[in-house]
Order: sequence, then structure tokens, then C-alpha cells
Amino acid sequence: MTFWPTLEHWSVQIPLHTNHYRMAALAETGFVKMADLPFEVPVAEWENLEYLDWKSGGDTNFAPLASADGQLDCRGFWDKGKTDKDALWTSNADLAPTLRNYIAGVGANFGRVRIIKLEPQDHETALRSFHRDDNNRFNPDNEGWVVRNWIELTDDPDSYMLLMEPGADGLPDPSTEVRVPLPQWSRFTVDTQRLWHVVVHNGTAPRYALITSLESGPVLEHWIDSQLPVSV
Ligand SMILES: [Fe+2]
Repeated sequence: MTFWPTLEHWSVQIPLHTNHYRMAALAETGFVKMADLPFEVPVAEWENLEYLDWKSGGDTNFAPLASADGQLDCRGFWDKGKTDKDALWTSNADLAPTLRNYIAGVGANFGRVRIIKLEPQDHETALRSFHRDDNNRFNPDNEGWVVRNWIELTDDPDSYMLLMEPGADGLPDPSTEVRVPLPQWSRFTVDTQRLWHVVVHNGTAPRYALITSLESGPVLEHWIDSQLPVSV
């Protein structure tokens, strides 16, 4: 029997429609793919960090590069009464200067910046972790909607992020399914509070990716525009 979320799933209660500023680039699908990262990141910037045991979206560990208070802590910013913005760099950031400078260079307000280490999980297993994020708790509704950006650090072209819009009942609508493949250096931005999401990782080794919370606004819109694939 395939697992499927029910109306009792915690994600169903997470707000979907609010007055926060949202970006046109995500309006249609909740997702935008950017060009591959235009430079390489040394492997040491993800392999030599301090990882914490924190389960989210499967069998995962996380290395925080920026957190609510600069401590190596994976708990939600809400535990500290803070929305997922105005993060401070942790000691891991000193070991990952390329990634730190990249995120700082976006110019938008960022929240948690973390490297995820995800063990392999097939489609059936991953569906059990299908969810929507609570990215905007405590976010004043006259400010920008918090979305998430990814850089894939390992090369997993046979793995994919599964995305679905919520249907009228709030549960994922299979007719809207999108699969985003995860080759190395691919980048995309997702409204993870809007879309149900999880990664199916068909590899045999852990998949690593950088995940950053970013505040929607003109600065982020301009940056996304500047990073779109060049059409030929
Ligand atoms: Fe999530």
C-alpha cells in the first residue's frame, strides 16, 4: 500500500494564502530553475563540516552554516521567537567560504543556511516524508514570503525532488507532479510552503545539497533573473 498524506497531516494546516510579498517568477508553478552554478565548490566545504543528527525529509543529517543565533543548531527559528530570516553565520561557515560568500552575495535577507546529507531513499520511502514547510511563522505579512534555494553539491542525476501543488482539499494533487533532477551544481528556488516536496534519492551514497531560506523581494527577484539559464 502506497503511503499518502491524509487531512490529519500537519502540513495541511500550514498557511497557504497570506498578504506577504511574493515573486512573479514563482507565481505560476512555485518553482524556478536557474543555470548551473557557474563555478565549482571544493569538496571539503561540505565533507569537513560538523553535521548534526536532525531528521527532515528522510534519513538526514544537517550542517548549519547560518542559524538563528550563530550556534550549531537545527531547531526552527520559531523556538527562539524568530522568523526564518536575519540568520547569523556559524563556525561551519568558516570552513565553507565559497558557499558563505555565494549566499552573502545574493544580497537578500537569508534565514537558515544548511547543508543536507540525505541517505538513499526510494520513491515509496520518500513519500512518507512528503510535506510542506512552515517557512513564514512569525513573518510579518507586510514583509517578503520566505522561499528556499538549492544547490546540488553531489552528482545525482537519477534522483529528483518531487513537487506537487496542494489540491482543493489541501492534499497533494498528483496531476501537478513535477520531478526536478539533481545533477551536480544544479540550482533551483522553490516555494516550499506552497508545494508539497520531498527528494527521492536513488543513489548508493549520500546526496549533499545546500539549502537556503531567502526572503522574497526585488533584490531576490533581480538575483534570480540574473541566474536564469541562457536560452539558445
Ligand atoms: Fe521541506
